[in-house]
Amino acid sequence: MGPDLKNVKILLGVTGGIAAYKSAELCRHLVKSGARVQVIMSDAACRFITPLTMETLSGQPVHVQMFDPARRPLTHIEAPAEADILLVAPATADYLARCATGRASDLISAVTLAFAGPVLAAPAMNTNMWRNPATVRNLHTLRDEHGWHIVAPGSGELACGTVGEGRLADTDDILRALTGLLRKDLNGLRILVTAGPTVEDLDPVRFISNRSSGRTGYAIAAMAARRGADVTLVSGPVSLPAPPRVTRVPVRSALEMEQAVLGRAADMDVIVMAAAVADYRPETSAPQKIKKGTDDTMTVKLVKNPDILLALGRLRGTSDRPVVAGFALETEHLVENAQKKRAQKNAHIIVANLAQDALDGDTTRAVIVDDTGETDTGGVSKEALADRLLDICAARCGRSR
Ligand code: C5P
Repeated sequence: MGPDLKNVKILLGVTGGIAAYKSAELCRHLVKSGARVQVIMSDAACRFITPLTMETLSGQPVHVQMFDPARRPLTHIEAPAEADILLVAPATADYLARCATGRASDLISAVTLAFAGPVLAAPAMNTNMWRNPATVRNLHTLRDEHGWHIVAPGSGELACGTVGEGRLADTDDILRALTGLLRKDLNGLRILVTAGPTVEDLDPVRFISNRSSGRTGYAIAAMAARRGADVTLVSGPVSLPAPPRVTRVPVRSALEMEQAVLGRAADMDVIVMAAAVADYRPETSAPQKIKKGTDDTMTVKLVKNPDILLALGRLRGTSDRPVVAGFALETEHLVENAQKKRAQKNAHIIVANLAQDALDGDTTRAVIVDDTGETDTGGVSKEALADRLLDICAARCGRSR
């Protein structure tokens, strides 16, 4: 049994690689699952598979050119306005490059640029093209800045005769990613997420802070919004754009973060503290730049910052709401330390992750503990970790997948 995609409107983009023939099977599955599929093909895709094939399978006219005299033109505004999701499979290196630079030089890239909903791309190409720094950079841009979702290609024998990465992901994997993106199980839940570091000023140009990119918290906020939650993201200074449909509340110091979180806590169903809050701040912050003195040493007196997670734990007492989740950055003994922190802070959930991965890596290994036990995620992307954590929060709110 395939996924239930009844009444879901899917724009299926097909770009020009040999894997384009597999998009016929994909289209068939989507239609059989109940989706309404509108296919858009690039010129190059039509050299690998005919629009007639896709037209027959989707039951709808296929569009290729921006200005097609043979049929009523489908404008690049009209097509995306209707769709729930844009799925591009296969996505070629050139299509990714066009989108990463905001080109609108043909119908499929113009539609992509004009589409405000979720984009899921399944790249397929030769291994060297996949590993080329330009492709790697374009994918980063599309994922991190444009918020795209990528179903990574698999490894195996490629049509060009080589063996390696670059083969279009299996249809089942693409369908699973698609249904994951369309899931709205958190509809109506109010979720507050903190992310990034806090910055504690010494004077107008100097500060102490924590190393934190904010990516984990942003991934949780983005995923929660995609799953239908009403999301507030209280964020320390980071260089990430606000995820779509998320209300971002920018803060700088731990004291500002405390106010932003505690002031909203009573209205929330779930609070996830993913921020790297500085434990201490300078006792005083000089209004003017501190001048270099003649002494070889300088002493800065630090005072303790409030523990926001602990305050939330106390606030909730024995209540089920809000569901309070915290993080524990550890270098060893993930489970034991997470259990200890859960008790100390009276949190429902603690996510313990390895400091080595969490700070720099794209993937991380985490253990999520709550009173029902522990979930070891293995090595996963920050997006996948976000999904797993939200599954547990959803279950605590009586929601199931
Ligand atoms: O106590 P520790 O810093 O190891 O706990 C980490 C967890 O506590 C994280 O969820 C972090 O966001 C939160 N925290 C906090 N306020 C602090 C320090 C940490 O809310 N002052």
